[in-house]
Amino acid sequence: MESPLTIIILAAGLGTRMKSRKAKVLHQAGGKTLIEHVVDTALELTAPSSIHVVVGHQAADVRKTLASRGVLFAEQTEQKGTGHAVLCCESVVRERAGRVVVLYGDVPLLKSATLRRLIELQSGSGAAAAAISTFQDDPTGYGRIVRNERGEVVAVVEEKAATSEQRGIREINAGIYCFDAPLLWKHLHDLRPDNPARELYLTDMVEILNREGHSVLPLVAGDSSELLGINTRVELAAVDRILRQQKVRQLMLDGVTIERPETVTIDSQVQIGMDTVVEAFARILGDSRIGSDCRIGAFSIVNHSTLEDNVLVLPYTIINTSQVATGAQLGPYTRLRMENYVGAGAHIGNFVELKKTRLGDGSKASHLAYLGDSVIGEKVNIGAGTITCNYDGRKKSQTKIGDRAFVGSNSTLVAPVEIGEGSYLAAGSVITHAVPPDALAVARGRQVNKEQWARRRRESAIQNPDSRS
Ligand code: UD1
Ligand code: CA
Repeated sequence: MESPLTIIILAAGLGTRMKSRKAKVLHQAGGKTLIEHVVDTALELTAPSSIHVVVGHQAADVRKTLASRGVLFAEQTEQKGTGHAVLCCESVVRERAGRVVVLYGDVPLLKSATLRRLIELQSGSGAAAAAISTFQDDPTGYGRIVRNERGEVVAVVEEKAATSEQRGIREINAGIYCFDAPLLWKHLHDLRPDNPARELYLTDMVEILNREGHSVLPLVAGDSSELLGINTRVELAAVDRILRQQKVRQLMLDGVTIERPETVTIDSQVQIGMDTVVEAFARILGDSRIGSDCRIGAFSIVNHSTLEDNVLVLPYTIINTSQVATGAQLGPYTRLRMENYVGAGAHIGNFVELKKTRLGDGSKASHLAYLGDSVIGEKVNIGAGTITCNYDGRKKSQTKIGDRAFVGSNSTLVAPVEIGEGSYLAAGSVITHAVPPDALAVARGRQVNKEQWARRRRESAIQNPDSRS
């Protein structure tokens, strides 16, 4: 049997350098919070019950963000350093054998394959610990790796405590370690806050283990971008960019055409089917799912929505928390504001807004309309300028429109109201009462033509040039 693996993720700090009221690990990159990235990587290695997240700043929010993952938590009420954070897990981690992997919540790009190599290095060599390192052109802000003549790590020196010679070291500590569990728990209490910040540094474990006659091995990461730690919003943007690049690259390899991929924003959880085309500057966000053979027009935004196959989204369309069935066509400039369902083959055109509305299969609303709190049947035609008056200043009411109804242009439907199947509403009608199936409803002032009225007016103006009306 494989030896047990416990993963501890440090996420209690506020992240002062972010200059934010929000805890650092709750900031997002690639459409997910930093802590979700790290936890999801950990979940590729072990069961949720073996993952402990150390929370402190905004602990309730971090717990809520991770609720669906089923991982465990430890509280660090005062942030007294990375070593102190691991100590806070001591009483809750039940498994004392095997190994402990420590991850930092602000290092989100790390891959599980790299962690596997780290675990293999530590367990295969019998070293007390292994730490991931990498060479950075600009190592500013990171702890530096000090090696002995055998190439083992003898110390990690923090920037603040480093001598000018040590600051010149370009090999940095990524903040990711695999410890022999019994040795970690045995020596964790030997940490001392003898540094300018008066904190317990986990990195001091390297010196302690060496002093006790154990060795610590470095795993030099091939891809140093995996180890980027986020301390400022500048680094947050850099990591976000990398995640977006990885996402579009994977989608393209999976058969999605992406025009000008550097301009699009696609969140990590998004799924897109084969032969779909994403035009430049599109944004596809949240847990959106897009089928195959779709087109997402330039500058469109799809957020937390599902599009089935063959959906055509023309430019500048906004689709939010909605579902769009096969073959529907939207845009340009359509807005599905929230919780809509658009049926198969339906068409929605420019400047049409839908809110909590169901538009049946094959129905059309091609121009300039507001359809709110409505249930609209199949093959209905909604004329230009149709407005559902769903709000009377106090409450929202529903509009129902039966199959094949024809709503003339500039109709005003005062809800609650029901329009029967196959009926016609004359253009410009203000509909306040139910319309029976197959009826014609005309609800507008009758037209009156006053013969020669305009000519008479002109002539009277010539005879009395001073009179102004
Ligand atoms: C740390 C390392 C440094 C390494 C760098 C890599 C130490 C002392 N230094 O520095 O060697 O190069 O990461 O990115 O470990 N945290 C807690 N509780 C605390 C303090 C921190 O949970 O009391 C968490 C933070 O929320 C964060 C992580 O630990 O997710 C790292 O803390 P941070 O203050 O960013 O450490 P660095 O100064 O970056
Ligand atoms: Ca950091």
